Amino acid sequence: MLNNEKLQAYIDGLFADRNDLFSEMENYASEHHVPIMELVGIETMLQLLRIHRSKRILEVGTAIGYSALRMAAALPEAEIVTIERDIERIQIAKEFIERSGKAEQISLIEGDALEVEEDVRKHGPFDAIFIDAAKGQYKKFFELYAKYLTAEGMVVTDNVLFKGLVAEEEIESKRTRNLVKKIAEFNQWLMSHSEYDSVILPVGDGIAISKKKR
Ligand SMILES: C[S@@+](CC[C@H](N)C(=O)[O-])C[C@H]1O[C@@H](n2cnc3c(N)ncnc32)[C@H](O)[C@@H]1O
Repeated sequence: MLNNEKLQAYIDGLFADRNDLFSEMENYASEHHVPIMELVGIETMLQLLRIHRSKRILEVGTAIGYSALRMAAALPEAEIVTIERDIERIQIAKEFIERSGKAEQISLIEGDALEVEEDVRKHGPFDAIFIDAAKGQYKKFFELYAKYLTAEGMVVTDNVLFKGLVAEEEIESKRTRNLVKKIAEFNQWLMSHSEYDSVILPVGDGIAISKKKR
């Protein structure tokens, strides 16, 4: 298996340096324990979005705006609609978005993703949806927003391998066990979905790529 930490560090080292703002955001996330997408995961997703030429993207889970701003930079023509419910993170995301000079490309919807469908609908349809919020709710996010995908639409879901725990038989912590069970159920559901072709890539924390069947 071509998958180990040494190799990962080698690949990470080959990615181009991020600009000062992105480096500052990466440091902020690390210092304040804000979970942002892993480097190889986001680079993989950005490449997919470039190939797909996504023009309108919905993100569930903004955090401090890192992935939204990376998408805006990689796809200068795209409009990013991103949802976040944590008030503190919303404030930080707004500040970073303002400083980036990309505010016109990004619409931040404040609130619980399961309660802001009306707002989101006004921005659709979307070429791509990126799900990166509460892991126990992935199926709900997918079911709620997949209807706003274009015919060629794609869904990217992060953390589907959850640090490899989905493949573990025994997990001590009950809370983690329950969460892993939900992710594993989501993976099963997604991989056997009659309307989507999906694949799970073991990059970053595991990303699922789902494409609407024709
Ligand atoms: C993993 S972080 C997102 C990281 C971001 N996509 C990045 O890579 O830069 C997940 C975020 O989703 C938010 N979140 C979780 N459940 C949510 C929900 N139901 N509605 C809106 N935001 C939610 C959390 O507050 C958290 O900030």
